[in-house]
Amino acid sequence: MRVVCCIQEEESNEINFLLESLLGIKPDIFFNLHDAESFLTHTSDINLFIINNSKIDTAAVTALCNLLKKETGIIASKTHKNALPLSPLVILEDESFPTLLFGCIEDLIKKGTLIKSTGTSGHIKIRTKLLLSVIPLRGDIYIQLNEKKFIKLFHQGDNFDIDDWKKYTQQKGIEYLYIQRTQVQEFLEKYRLELEKNLTKTPSAPIGEIAENNIAIMEAIQEIAFNTGFTKETRDLVKTQMKVTAQTVSKNTNLSKILNKIDQSKGDYISVHSTLTGVIACALSSKMTWSSEATYQKLILAGFMHDLGLNNQKLAACSSIDEAEAGGFTEQEVKDFKKHANKASEIVQQFTEIPPDVDTIILQHHEMPDGSGFPRAIKGSYISPLASVFIVAHDVAAEYIRLGHAFNPLEYIPKALEKYPTSQFKKIIQLVSSI
Ligand SMILES: [Fe+2]
Ligand SMILES: [Fe+2]
Repeated sequence: MRVVCCIQEEESNEINFLLESLLGIKPDIFFNLHDAESFLTHTSDINLFIINNSKIDTAAVTALCNLLKKETGIIASKTHKNALPLSPLVILEDESFPTLLFGCIEDLIKKGTLIKSTGTSGHIKIRTKLLLSVIPLRGDIYIQLNEKKFIKLFHQGDNFDIDDWKKYTQQKGIEYLYIQRTQVQEFLEKYRLELEKNLTKTPSAPIGEIAENNIAIMEAIQEIAFNTGFTKETRDLVKTQMKVTAQTVSKNTNLSKILNKIDQSKGDYISVHSTLTGVIACALSSKMTWSSEATYQKLILAGFMHDLGLNNQKLAACSSIDEAEAGGFTEQEVKDFKKHANKASEIVQQFTEIPPDVDTIILQHHEMPDGSGFPRAIKGSYISPLASVFIVAHDVAAEYIRLGHAFNPLEYIPKALEKYPTSQFKKIIQLVSSI
């Protein structure tokens, strides 16, 4: 999908970020008529044209729009209303541009007017187990035969029971089935409503099951965020999943029990690592006597979101910029890695009604006490206490994924004390043996 913006320079950062987080794309941005005109003259595959630039007069805006194809969507500010030759998708009040642009694009995604057309198929993978929570099925379910071919296995409204699940996973080894991108939001909304019901149930589901679902939901959200951006429905789902997980963790902070139930070799690296980091951080914070459900929610949400800006699973396993630069990744991937903490922290700021400080925890998750971390290279005392807990949990999770059940806290602690040699971290690291 290609988006071109002809806007004022002071709005460019905000609009650039907004389009990247919502549509997962980098727009082509121009501040003056000449540059925009020459770009539009030579580019034909533009899906969306956004215009808000009072320095460009009516005749020039009309000329620019005449360079667009009929099917290109236009979002314009009211200033340009009379200049538009084609009927625009949306006209926004000048004062509310770009504030309202966010909701407006979200609406267009929801209506299906804007869908990022990547080269990939129109299907999103869903862990087979998740289907059990959305009965009767919302959406048609497909099996993938090859890169381009999908065959419908179940229809919307069908039942999917434990025997179906066993048939596909245990007998045929199929961990993922697929749902069309246009139906995935509805599917996840139904899943979220079922989850909401669990919030009021006591006792809640066992931690192993919650963690497994957490991983499955993260995998789906990773794909959605990459393909269609981070919509309101996606944010609501993350919030509900966070609440259910935090509620369950608050009843069981015994880490060895939790770890025994998470199969670290199953699932995408980012999803497993993010879930593990969140629950390990909760277990550590409970030993620091920070054991409120609000604190658990912060840590679970930070776990969920902290690496969301990364699409490459191997890249997410890097702990420093040096490691990413030496890892054979493309220039763009290294750039994404350098920016991912900032990007994820900005995405989480768009959430409403979430506990404060989650953005700080995410922003600081690669900082080091000696100032050698990133993105801000701040030193120990500037790293917030909860971010310090999260950083240690992040490191423990990486070691646990590397070693599996051979992970031994007594071998881990001395190595970690060398890596994080300040009193603030020392106290947290020593707690690893007691969780
Ligand atoms: Fe991470
Ligand atoms: Fe990270």
